[in-house]
Amino acid sequence: MCGIVGAVAQRNVVPILLEGLQRLEYRGYDSAGLAVVHDGQLERVRSIGRVADLTEKSAGTRGFIGIAHTRWATHGVPSVRNAHPHISKDHVAVVHNGIIENYEVLRTRLTAAGYEFTSDTDTEVIAHLIHSHYARGNSLLVATQASLAELVGAYAIGVIAADNPDQLICARRGSPLLLGVGIEEHFIASDVSALLPVTRNVVYLEEGDVVEVGRRSYQIFDTKGMRVERTVQISELNNESVQLGEYCHYMQKEIHEQPQALADTLESVCNSQSLVPGIFGAEAAATFADIDSILILACGTSYHAGLVARYWLEEITGIRCTVEVASEYRYRISVANPKTLVVVISQSGETADTQAALNHAKTHGHIHTLAICNVPESALVRLCKLRMLTRAGPEIGVASTKAFTTQLAALFLLTLILAKQRGRLTAEQEQKHLQELRHLPSGVKKVLELEPQIAKLAEQFASKHHALFLGRGLHYPIALEGALKLKEISYIHAEAYPAGELKHGPLALVDKDMPVISVAPNDALLEKLKSNLQEVRARGGELYVFADAHTHIREAEGIHIMQMPEHAGYLSPILHTIPLQLLAYYVALQKGTDVDKPRNLAKSVTVE
Ligand code: M6R
Repeated sequence: MCGIVGAVAQRNVVPILLEGLQRLEYRGYDSAGLAVVHDGQLERVRSIGRVADLTEKSAGTRGFIGIAHTRWATHGVPSVRNAHPHISKDHVAVVHNGIIENYEVLRTRLTAAGYEFTSDTDTEVIAHLIHSHYARGNSLLVATQASLAELVGAYAIGVIAADNPDQLICARRGSPLLLGVGIEEHFIASDVSALLPVTRNVVYLEEGDVVEVGRRSYQIFDTKGMRVERTVQISELNNESVQLGEYCHYMQKEIHEQPQALADTLESVCNSQSLVPGIFGAEAAATFADIDSILILACGTSYHAGLVARYWLEEITGIRCTVEVASEYRYRISVANPKTLVVVISQSGETADTQAALNHAKTHGHIHTLAICNVPESALVRLCKLRMLTRAGPEIGVASTKAFTTQLAALFLLTLILAKQRGRLTAEQEQKHLQELRHLPSGVKKVLELEPQIAKLAEQFASKHHALFLGRGLHYPIALEGALKLKEISYIHAEAYPAGELKHGPLALVDKDMPVISVAPNDALLEKLKSNLQEVRARGGELYVFADAHTHIREAEGIHIMQMPEHAGYLSPILHTIPLQLLAYYVALQKGTDVDKPRNLAKSVTVE
C-alpha cells in the first residue's frame, strides 16, 4: 500500500528519498512522486510506473528537505495527476497514506473558498486544508493540527511548505508512520526498511501523534496537542535481510528462508525441555486459565493460518474456536463473551481490517487479546495484551509465504500450551511434540528439494485459465492457501474446496481443461480423499497430487504425483504448504508476471 519517505537534512535529500521509495516498493504501488524545497520554491517530480522512472525524472532535482510517496490507487486512477505529493497554491505539499472519508464535503467547501482541485484524490483536500490554515498566519504545525481535527478517516501524512525549509510536519492515525533519528538529520517513513541506509534509530509514532521534525530536534504532540516523549528504539532489522542475494525474486528467497524462519520462531521452545505460557507474555498463564473459547480474526493468508489452527485447537485442547475474516467481523453485531481469547494474526501488524476487528472486539467487551505477528512494535502488537512474534524476518514479496508457516508454528505452540494447561497433554506427548517441532525445519528443507520437479510441472499450467484445489480436514485451509497463492501471482482463476464438497457443485466445472490440484496427506481421511479424486478422474479432470509416502496413489494417465515425505502428523499442513507456494511461483514465472509485486495488490493493506 502507499509508502511515505521524508527527510530534513544538511545534505541533498533526493537520493535518500529515492532509495527509501525503492525499499518500500514491495508494499505495492502504481505511481510515485517527490517534492523538495529549493530556493524558497517547491519542486515536484511525479511518475506513473516504477521508482526507477521517478529516479530518471528526478536527475537534477535537489533540496535539503523533502517528502516522497509511492501511491496505491484508491480514489482516482493511477496517473501522474493523481500521484502524490499534492500541492496547494504552489506552497504546501502533502503525501498521504490512508483514506479520508469526508473528503467530498471538504472538497465542496474548499472549492467554494477558491481552491482549485487538480486530481481525483481524497489527499488533495488535506493539502488545501493545511494551506487554508497556514495562509491565516498559523505555523505549519498548528495549520496541520487544525486540519487533522477536520478529517474523518485514516492517515499517515508528511507535509512541507515552500517558505519553511527547516521543518517537516508528519502525523499518523490509523496508518503506520515512524520517525528516523539521525545526527543533525531526521527522517519519516512508513516502515523502517526505507531508512536502513541512513539510520536504525526509530520512534514508532502512536495513534494521533503529530510531529514537528527539524534537523537538530523534533517535537511530538499527542492527540490532545500535549508534548510527549516517545522511546527511540534501535531497529534490529538488518540491511542484508532485505537484499535479494542469490535469488531471482523475494518470493523465491522467502520460500527458501522457511527452515530458518521456523527454527528462529521455535528457538526458545525447542531449546527448552517444556512448554510454558510465558512465550505469549507475562500475563499469559492467568489469561489462558480464564478463557473458555477462542475467536481468531485475520485476513487473507493469515486467515488461512487461523483456519488450520481451529482444527488443532478444538481437537487437541477441546476449546471451542471460531475463525472470522476481519473485514466481516468488524461490521457484524456478534455476541461477545468476556471469557473468549481474541487472537489476531497478521504478518504486518498494520492491516486496517484486522486492527478494526480487534478494536470492535474490545469495544464489545472482549478483554483477552493476543497478537501473532511478524512485526515487533506494529499496531496490532501494541494493541494486544498478549503477543507472540513470529521471527520470519522481513517479508517483501506480496505473496505471503514464510509469514504463513511461522504463524502456523506459533499457533501450534498456542494449542500445545493451552492443552497442557488444561491437562490434555501428557508429559510424554509434550516431549514427542517438542521433538517433532525440532525436526520441522529439516522436514521443510526436504520438501524444498521438490523445487526442480515443481518447476517442470508448472510448465503445464501456463496455458490454463482455471484451477481447482482440493484438501480435506486440516489440509482444506492449505488448499485455500494454495489457490490464493496461484491466483494472486499468476492471475489464474483458482478455487479451493474441501474434497467432499465436490459433488455438491464444483464437479460440474471439471473437464480436461481443468487442472485439479490435491493435497493428499496420509491421514485418517485419505481413503475418502481417494474416492473424491476418482470422481474427478472419471470426468476427465487432470489430477496433480501432492501425496505423502505410503498413500499408494499411483502415477497414471491424467494423474501426476509429487512425492512428499512421510506423513508429519499435526505438522503436516506446514509441509504441504511448501510445494503449493513453489507451484504458484513457477507458474507465475512461466506467465511472466511481476511475481513480487502482482498487479492491483499491496503488501500491507493499511486502508479499508
Ligand atoms: O499483514 P497481514 O498478514 O495482516 O496481511 C493479510 C493479507 O493482506 C495477506 O495475507 C494477503 O492475503 C497476502 N497477499 C497473501 O499472500
